[in-house]
Amino acid sequence: MLNMTPDKVYAEAHARSIADPEGFWAEAAEAVAWTRAPRRVLDSGDPPFYRWFPDGELNTCHNALDRHVEAGHGDRLALIYDSPVSGSRASYTYERLRDEVARFAGVLRSLGVGRGDRVVIYMPMVPEAVMAMLACARLGAVHSVVFGGFAPKELAARIDDARPKVVVAASCGIEPTRVVPYKPMLDAALELAGHAPERCVILRREQAPAELGPRDLDWHEAMSAAEPAGCVPVAATDPLYILYTSGTTGRPKGVVRDNGGHAVALLWSMTAVYGMRPGEVFWTASDVGWVVGHSYIVYGPLLLGATTVLYEGKPVGTPDAGAFWRVIEEYGVRALFTAPTAFRAIKRDDPSAALLGEYDISSLRALFLAGERLDPDTYHWATDRLGVPVIDHWWQTETGWPIAANLRGLAPMPIKPGSPTVPVPGYDVRVLDPDGHDCAPGEEGAICLRLPLPPGTLPTLWHDDERYAESYLTAFPGHYLTGDGGYLDEDGYLFVMGRTDDVINVAGHRLSTGSMEAVLAAHPAVAECAVIGVADELKGQLPRGFVVLKSGAQVDPGALRAELVQAVRDQVGAVAAFKQVDVVTALPKTRSGKILRKTMRGIVEGTAEPVPSTIEDPAVLDSLRAAIARADG
Ligand code: COA
Ligand code: AMP
Repeated sequence: MLNMTPDKVYAEAHARSIADPEGFWAEAAEAVAWTRAPRRVLDSGDPPFYRWFPDGELNTCHNALDRHVEAGHGDRLALIYDSPVSGSRASYTYERLRDEVARFAGVLRSLGVGRGDRVVIYMPMVPEAVMAMLACARLGAVHSVVFGGFAPKELAARIDDARPKVVVAASCGIEPTRVVPYKPMLDAALELAGHAPERCVILRREQAPAELGPRDLDWHEAMSAAEPAGCVPVAATDPLYILYTSGTTGRPKGVVRDNGGHAVALLWSMTAVYGMRPGEVFWTASDVGWVVGHSYIVYGPLLLGATTVLYEGKPVGTPDAGAFWRVIEEYGVRALFTAPTAFRAIKRDDPSAALLGEYDISSLRALFLAGERLDPDTYHWATDRLGVPVIDHWWQTETGWPIAANLRGLAPMPIKPGSPTVPVPGYDVRVLDPDGHDCAPGEEGAICLRLPLPPGTLPTLWHDDERYAESYLTAFPGHYLTGDGGYLDEDGYLFVMGRTDDVINVAGHRLSTGSMEAVLAAHPAVAECAVIGVADELKGQLPRGFVVLKSGAQVDPGALRAELVQAVRDQVGAVAAFKQVDVVTALPKTRSGKILRKTMRGIVEGTAEPVPSTIEDPAVLDSLRAAIARADG
């Protein structure tokens, strides 16, 4: 390997991971501490379902905390909490975090939570959210974190699907402009839900402490009475967590993550992809409610024995667009991972990056961006200003770790702006045409992954093998459908062009237009509707709705618009950023009744999307154009 160029090192590693996945991942698995080392690497006896390390046994929390303490690193910082929105900071060594987590695991255990039980966590970016996740892992329980920006109805849908024994919540979240009371949202969700958890543990924050009801337990009181709990060994194939993500319908998909494959893959990615070493500071500016937060705020850095930064705030306005530079300087951050939107926000507020001059960010080795398309402007701006490699990488909730990346640890390769570089070892990335044939270099198609997927990726959807197979595995048998379109170039670099389904990406947040359409369609005056994602300079995409009124409906269009915007905010959540909806006379459709969303997007964005020959009534396009022109003034 010593004299090989990075592209050869990469090519060899990738080829081996595909030709001999069992050998490749057996080797990577040696870096994990098992209570029973796996003798079998991959169970492929029930295709298209695959299980990694089927006879292995381990505890993920042990690997993330206890293991480092036992190795003599108890004094090393595990977690730094920095919260400009609440004006607080704290830091936890590995030993302290282990002790807090063991105690909270004791709280959960005293509430009857054990191996396989579910716990829903509805918390903002506070250390207790991380503790609650790890405490579940410690007991072999299954956590399901719900992002705080979701409304009660969305929380209720997740509670009904996961059927948790206990919910752990904070009394409030803090946005730069307002305190968001979470407790009333939790109570409203529990009113809506069919399933009733036995207890709720509430972290009361001083900004909005909340009254506790008969089912509720105060976090601090429970902690003071708790006995620490030890790590419970679980099967590698046992679920570690369920994370709900948006599909094309309004019903979220419960992505399952196992314990063994997850630990192996994340640990491997921390060095191979992110080039991190134990003891270094890794900062992912995202939220624990998203997969990026699960993998790279919590599990990845801690499995490695690195220090993770938990930042509660925005990149701008808390207090200003220098917030990120301050955190990098203060904690000696080696690698920062965030969504391109964060950098677009910084660029908007401080276009010349004047604030950068006030800080020393020389500790930073690389900036990693993912979660949405990295536009060339933002790439160049960040590269020029930071003076470190800016690494676009592509993955999704389902995979849990990068599918395509520039492997900074294993084999750093030249960057091509617009491309997340190459398929990561373990992923056999194929771009397929509608007949399932490989596209030629440069030719766009559906980005698919040949089965089996590598360790750490979803084995199924929660209690729904059928939906898993139907959503991902049936379009191209033998392949997993990512839902993104794109192409591979002659050098094997991947270019991701965007979703081919009705999933949209707003400020790096994955949302379903289907869930917003369900809200619009429920209004008594609305006959039919469509929500599409349209390009936005800051957030990448924004949802925009169109409604057709029932004949004879007597409504004031202005009042209706306001009502619909509020309804989406109340039922999906503020995070949907649904602010624009217009009344139109008809929606363009194919003769079989399918709404031509792509054509609509082309009209709004002013791009010349080809109009399908299957269109039912081309005249509808003119009235739509006129309505959009009127709405946009
Ligand atoms: N709890 C409650 N409400 C929340 C919330 C939370 N955890 N997160 C967001 N919201 C609310 C916001 O307050 C906002 O409400 P508003 O309509 O009253 O203003 C709304 O949801 C939209 O939030 P957001 O998308 O964050 O927009 P913003 O205008 O407040 O901030 C950015 C814009 C670009 C600064 C912000 O989106 C950002 O920092 N993005 C980084 C991307 C990121 O972390 N992505 C995660 C995946 S990697
Ligand atoms: P999520 O499941 O929330 O992580 O969202 C995954 C989706 O975000 C992917 O399917 C893509 O559509 C999009 N995405 C994530 N990373 C990138 C990237 N680097 N480039 C383009 N799109 C991305």
